[in-house]
Amino acid sequence: MTAEEFLPDRLSMRDLERAAQDCKGCRLHANATQTVFGEGLKRSLIMLVGEQPGDREDIDGRPFVGPAGRLLDRGLKEAGITRNDVYLTNIVKHFKHERVGKRRIHKKPNADEIMACRPWLDAEMSVVGPEVLVLLGATVAKALLGPAFKVTQMRGRSIASDFAPNVTATVHPSSILRARDGDTRAREFGRFVDDLHFAAELMS
Ligand code: URA
Ligand code: SF4
Repeated sequence: MTAEEFLPDRLSMRDLERAAQDCKGCRLHANATQTVFGEGLKRSLIMLVGEQPGDREDIDGRPFVGPAGRLLDRGLKEAGITRNDVYLTNIVKHFKHERVGKRRIHKKPNADEIMACRPWLDAEMSVVGPEVLVLLGATVAKALLGPAFKVTQMRGRSIASDFAPNVTATVHPSSILRARDGDTRAREFGRFVDDLHFAAELMS
């Protein structure tokens, strides 16, 4: 099963978002609060793709509003991009997690779930038609560009792909939050901003 059969006839952003609320294209909907669809400028020049909603996003119903989102906002700002200027989404629209006591711990989506959810992302890409597509993290980059793609080697440069005139990849903001100490975190954040800066330059 995939999300395909839940797609509306008309691919407008409003219809897509509404239809996605009822998606049962994979099992992830059963354990989550709600679908977290993309948001932002409909005809944005720049579109960023994350992995999947986290705990906060699942509750609020909006992408990147938790700790990783705050770091992303900060990174965008330092790179001269405002959140209002981008379209922001995830490759998987429901929060996958495991309960450990009271906490809900994020679990990586598997290849089947990513494939099942893909029609939503494809529809978002066709509506937005971004000039620049920014892939956040290895899971997303590999899903879209193939399993051999290495973010660590290919980050912060242009990648030839049919998804958009310009495609680029960087690390996922959550990986920066997990850095082992403050110095590493600061350094990794700096590199993240450099990559976003590169993406901003691709727009002009
Ligand atoms: N991490 C993601 O990849 N997406 C979100 O929306 C939040 C955290
Ligand atoms: Fe549908 Fe995607 Fe949610 Fe699976 S994760 S139920 S495919 S919206």
